[in-house]
Amino acid sequence: MKLDITPEVLTMRLICTAAAAVLFSAPAFAQQPSAAAGVFEKRCYSCHNIGGGDKKGPDLKGVTTRQSTEWLREFIKAPAAVNRKGDSVATGLFKKFAPEVMPDQDLADEQIDAIIGMIDGLTKKNEAFVPAGAKLNRPIAPGDVEAGYQLFTGRAALSGGGSACISCHNVSGSGRLGGGTLGPDLSAVNVRYKDPELISILQNPNFPTMKSIFGTRPLNDEEIVKLFAYFQNAKLVAPIAPAPAASAAVRIEPWFVALGFAALLMSLALMNRAWKGRLRGVREELVRRNQ
Ligand code: HEC
Ligand code: HEC
Repeated sequence: MKLDITPEVLTMRLICTAAAAVLFSAPAFAQQPSAAAGVFEKRCYSCHNIGGGDKKGPDLKGVTTRQSTEWLREFIKAPAAVNRKGDSVATGLFKKFAPEVMPDQDLADEQIDAIIGMIDGLTKKNEAFVPAGAKLNRPIAPGDVEAGYQLFTGRAALSGGGSACISCHNVSGSGRLGGGTLGPDLSAVNVRYKDPELISILQNPNFPTMKSIFGTRPLNDEEIVKLFAYFQNAKLVAPIAPAPAASAAVRIEPWFVALGFAALLMSLALMNRAWKGRLRGVREELVRRNQ
């Protein structure tokens, strides 16, 4: 059964969307690339925005007006130690962002001060941090979704020798229901993150578990394009599949059934974001009913 092949229609939609986004070209307002911006993009941006909302960690916009420079220096170097001391700001943050814990940052004082300066500058100008390097190195092409799927599931090996994503992550419709559960379900990851945020995570995944693998075995540019296309596609399949009146529904093909099921799971996943903790039960129920 060829459940895995993405229909051409979807691929075309994907290409159009991606072309419209012009991800691979320079941003409209080019930010002066400073050393601090480079370090921030590589080391902090997978967890933090400066303007643009919380990610795994809090949005850092305005943090220099809330905390002293001394506090920031100490916290950035060793957040857990500051928390252990019983510092009230740190304990509040740790509670709010649990189970995420910011890893200690092994940076020189000058680097930390430069980052603090950059955060302060952006806050005062009321501007958001724009990552200079978080772009695809070429447009998405036909076949990238399928190639991304192959990489995700480990059917094709990653050039750097990193573990297949599916050993820790699930994506609905990735061919079986049970991808790994050590990492979060990635079915809606392209809804959760803006494009540069997701691209940057693929370039520099600073989450401790992923960093331990991909820190020394990074994904190459081609792999990033393909995986990005795969996640983008996972987002696009949802709105069109469930409509029973769609003409495609007349031809009952295995991929369409799979697609519908994937979309169903995806909407459940989205609902689950609204009502945390229910997906598991619902999915088990679905599996039982389908047996
Ligand atoms: C793996 C994710 C992650 C990475 C990487 C990371 N942080 Fe954090 N950061 C967090 C979390 C989560 C918190 C909230 C405290 C906690 O739970 O550890 C936080 C808190 C902070 C705070 C306090 C914010 C406030 O509102 O007071 C600052 C400042 C900060 N981080 C700066 C940085 C800088 C600078 C870097 C890069 C050098 C960085 N972080 C890298 C996850 C991360
Ligand atoms: C060894 C297990 C492991 C492997 C292999 C792995 N990841 Fe992860 N990944 C994680 C964990 C754990 C997290 C959650 C990090 C956190 O919450 O701090 C994560 C988080 C992510 C996120 C952010 C998700 C979110 O909801 O915030 C993305 C995107 C991601 N991984 C993509 C990938 C891709 C693409 C691959 C394959 C190239 C991959 N991961 C391979 C463990 C893994």
